[in-house]
Amino acid sequence: MLNDRSTALSLLLTRRSGKPRDMVAPGPTPGQLATMLRVAARVPDHGKLSPWRFVTIAADRRAALADVLAAAYRLDRPEARERELDEVRAFAHQAPALVVVLSRVDPASKIPAWEQHLSAGAACGLLVAAASAAGFVAGWLTGWAAYSDAVVAALGAPGDRIAGFVFIGSPARALEERPRPDLSEVVSAW
Ligand SMILES: Cc1cc2nc3c(=O)[nH]c(=O)nc-3n(C[C@H](O)[C@H](O)[C@H](O)COP(=O)(O)O)c2cc1C
Repeated sequence: MLNDRSTALSLLLTRRSGKPRDMVAPGPTPGQLATMLRVAARVPDHGKLSPWRFVTIAADRRAALADVLAAAYRLDRPEARERELDEVRAFAHQAPALVVVLSRVDPASKIPAWEQHLSAGAACGLLVAAASAAGFVAGWLTGWAAYSDAVVAALGAPGDRIAGFVFIGSPARALEERPRPDLSEVVSAW
């Protein structure tokens, strides 16, 4: 019989990401999303700096995000065609729930910036795992938008970096496993 620990391990051993464009309702309720964010905010964090922020983008704010993305894309590529911009807008409308994870480094801290960024990345990983544990599927994406100064300015504060757009929902179809590295290739005994 499975106890809580073996259930958690079996979840971690089998979880996989979903493609945000294939995610459908139901998404998490506000309470379920808050639980996932509590998990993510328990990430290891050297110096207790909380060097990350979670920005939730509700359904009624997706169109505004799409406008931000399209405007930022036009700044980067003034020659962009309408079709290209439609794809850019579509990014913002994927999946029932969206959390933008920002890496917010304190440059004055004695904790190296690298370690603060690592904590933000780990928070994304925990958020993805928490979504699976809650019975949903998540997808962690970056893409050009994560590297656009205009997008960062719209979503965060000066100096922030986007660690990921984490989309959460239900998979439209069963997820297929992808090849995983053979442990012998990535683990060695020193
Ligand atoms: C920092 C980061 C950025 C990513 N950005 C993208 C992306 O823009 N597009 C994409 O298709 N996958 C992206 N991925 C990969 C997916 O999040 C995911 O790892 C992949 O689909 C495999 O899923 P799984 O191994 O969790 O099942 C990114 C992963 C990381 C860690």
